[in-house]
Amino acid sequence: MKSPRLSTLACLAAAGIAGVSIGNAVFAHGNVLPQPVDTSALPDIGEAWLTKNPYRGNAVAIKIGESAYGQNCARCHGLEAISGGIAPDLRYLDVGEAGDEWFADRYQHGSARDGKVYMPPLGEVLGQKAGWAIRSWLDTKHQD
Ligand code: HEC
Repeated sequence: MKSPRLSTLACLAAAGIAGVSIGNAVFAHGNVLPQPVDTSALPDIGEAWLTKNPYRGNAVAIKIGESAYGQNCARCHGLEAISGGIAPDLRYLDVGEAGDEWFADRYQHGSARDGKVYMPPLGEVLGQKAGWAIRSWLDTKHQD
């Protein structure tokens, strides 16, 4: 009876420690948790992830996306999407459909290599609607 309980506790403790260190890696550039985005003004698009931006050119989406970017992406990717060098400059992403899938992949899954988190996954926390709103705004900032 005693040892399984102890190992459960040990396990929880280990998970707790791992959680803290992942948190530090993820939010190394300012301890800011993801900020929820109000997307209620945007048409619903269902749960399944799309590969093309359903809101492209939608002025409401662009506005929501601009603020969502400022709260959730700018600390790494730079204000106004102009990178300060910590993370890629998102103005140079392929514009329009050509870049949608890559954008959605990073947004959903983030980026990690060799046990290091470069970008946290944000799709689950912020939601698909917020992602495509950000993408809509980024398209307006595109540079070749
Ligand atoms: C903690 C810092 C951090 C945050 C916050 C962050 N990113 Fe990133 N992002 C990165 C880094 C670092 C990379 C490069 C990853 C690599 O080299 O594998 C990256 C890569 C990307 C890429 C691929 C860029 C390319 O040129 O291939 C996209 C798209 C992207 N991020 C979008 C976003 C969006 C949208 C948000 C906000 C919702 C966001 N990121 C928030 C750090 C961050």
